Amino acid sequence: MKRWRRRYYDFFSYFYDQIIALHSRDRSALLRRFLLEKTGVRKGTYLLDLCTGTGAVALTAARFVSENGLIIGVDFSEGMLKRAQRKARSLGHPRLFWILAHVGELPLASHTFDVVTCSHAMYELDPPSREATLREIKRVLKPGGVFGMMEHCEPQNPFIRLLYYLRLLSFGSRENRSFARDERPYLKRYFSSVERILSPSGNSKLLLAHA
Ligand SMILES: C[S@@+](CC[C@H](N)C(=O)[O-])C[C@H]1O[C@@H](n2cnc3c(N)ncnc32)[C@H](O)[C@@H]1O
Repeated sequence: MKRWRRRYYDFFSYFYDQIIALHSRDRSALLRRFLLEKTGVRKGTYLLDLCTGTGAVALTAARFVSENGLIIGVDFSEGMLKRAQRKARSLGHPRLFWILAHVGELPLASHTFDVVTCSHAMYELDPPSREATLREIKRVLKPGGVFGMMEHCEPQNPFIRLLYYLRLLSFGSRENRSFARDERPYLKRYFSSVERILSPSGNSKLLLAHA
């Protein structure tokens, strides 16, 4: 299943940015800024962006985080990371790195990061991978660090909502649906406090969890 999804994203990497731009226009840029602002990303932050894809969140963060901070984007699709790497060249940030890995097995030292982010990807993980990933997030965060997870809210339009649930079911477990409805009980198993904030548009939700 994981290998199939990785190949799917390798293929999708050729169109990913164009499709997101068509779908959301500048809303996704606003959402990324909202995520970074709420997680408190600043100059010296050590930030880890999971399921970074073509690097949308990590590249936006590179505009705020200075050379004494650190930004790492992790993804298991080589295709997506190649796109991210290409886009990063023009920024020339000296402490922005990409790691090819499964997010449930992070090749990173414990208690390293102030902030871990994951945008529009946690709900895709199968339940064992999601649990492993939450454990890894807790492990690599410094005490008092923040995990910020951005997801779509349930669409209001009945047809789009049907497509949304079909997509969730395609990930292979009904539990993905209950996770997407309310992530808080899952996050509370690992984090001391969890809060849910709606994005200004009301179409996305940000889960903020403290280690
Ligand atoms: C919908 S994209 C989101 C990309 C990016 N976060 C954004 O907001 O544009 C999901 C990403 O998660 C990655 N992914 C899915 N499962 C993964 C896993 N188990 N380990 C690492 N990356 C994974 C995919 O390769 C893909 O790039």
